[in-house]
Amino acid sequence: MAYYETTHVPGRHFLQIPGPTNVPDRVLRAMDNPTMDHRGPDFGKLGARILGNLRKVFQTEGPVIIYPASGTGAWEAAMANTLSPGDTVLMCRTGWFATLWREMAERLQLKAEFIDTDWRRGADVAGIAEALAKDTAHRIKAVCVVHNETSTGCTSRIDEVRAAMDAAKHPALLMVDTISSLASIDYRHDEWGVDVTVAGSQKGLMLPPGLSFNAISKKALAAAETAKMPRSYWDWRPMLAANETGFFPYTPGTNLLYGLDAAVSMLLEEGLANVFARHDRHAEAMRRAVRAWGLETQCAEPRHYSSSLTAVRMPEGHSADGLRATILARCNMSLGNGLGQLKDRVFRIGHLGDFGDLQLIGTLGGIEIGLRAAGVPHAPGGVQAAIDYLAGNA
Ligand SMILES: Cc1ncc(COP(=O)(O)O)c(C=O)c1O
Repeated sequence: MAYYETTHVPGRHFLQIPGPTNVPDRVLRAMDNPTMDHRGPDFGKLGARILGNLRKVFQTEGPVIIYPASGTGAWEAAMANTLSPGDTVLMCRTGWFATLWREMAERLQLKAEFIDTDWRRGADVAGIAEALAKDTAHRIKAVCVVHNETSTGCTSRIDEVRAAMDAAKHPALLMVDTISSLASIDYRHDEWGVDVTVAGSQKGLMLPPGLSFNAISKKALAAAETAKMPRSYWDWRPMLAANETGFFPYTPGTNLLYGLDAAVSMLLEEGLANVFARHDRHAEAMRRAVRAWGLETQCAEPRHYSSSLTAVRMPEGHSADGLRATILARCNMSLGNGLGQLKDRVFRIGHLGDFGDLQLIGTLGGIEIGLRAAGVPHAPGGVQAAIDYLAGNA
């Protein structure tokens, strides 16, 4: 039962939005401990362990900063620490979240050059290459890409973006939003030469909302020394100084950090490669179900299929929000809504975080009941297609 439920519905609520995700019991138990002195000696040991283990999740040897903030805060921190008012940033409009990041850039007095897409695929790498090749004066100071666009279920190829930047010999920083991919889709901060990785607690990390992250390269740290954007709360420098000994310059989200400690341990015990393979397998099962229903995924490019969520397009004349309301009322399950230009046109299934085969079958079962109850034209057999795939691919 959800904490605040106006009408009790028997059975466990299925929270299958693409984040916040379900929090495992081990993480809930860890947070359910007395808040400790964040300036006391034990805290330093805990902080140092968390900050060390976190690097493995980002696949980096460099520092990772933890803010008591939602992901939007970490977006701002990435820009405020490395850029100056009037700088140009190259951004890819892969969907709703990329659009919001651009709006923030403009509010921070950056000039955003936007490369458009049809919201059905990842970032346009050829477009990035072209824009960088034209920029012989190196006006572009950062290339900003959302790794996994949560509004569309399309994952951009960061390795290819890096290769395009290298081929153009362009010195811009590379900033990547991994809010709905970290710890669910393979992501390599160091190997892909990313300068700032932005992440949040409430998706692949299996925590409640409230923490966000910046993983930082040496080049980004150097940029922070000369960047002129005013910054105070988001300033990396006091944070990095305090983090040396496992502490924070202001009051950290202590109980969320207990949860983070437990969640990161769970991920490392499972092994990151296994975590990514589990998400890939579940995403494939979801897509097979969608295909069996005769419906279409929003992502039209198989190389960009997301392993953390699937956005499903509604047949013409049918309301995604109507279907979601039916599913909530009939099956006690929340699915993600369509955002921006996809409002009412798609529903989004989250299959990231603490998620197993039976949650997947339950999720698809609820959708199939809802499709029938709401009179949405579809073929039966989506659940069966997923079972066939999962059973044959242990
Ligand atoms: C890809 C992406 N970027 C940014 C955000 C914004 O994060 P938050 O809502 O935690 O501020 C979200 C939230 O869902 C997201 O999915």
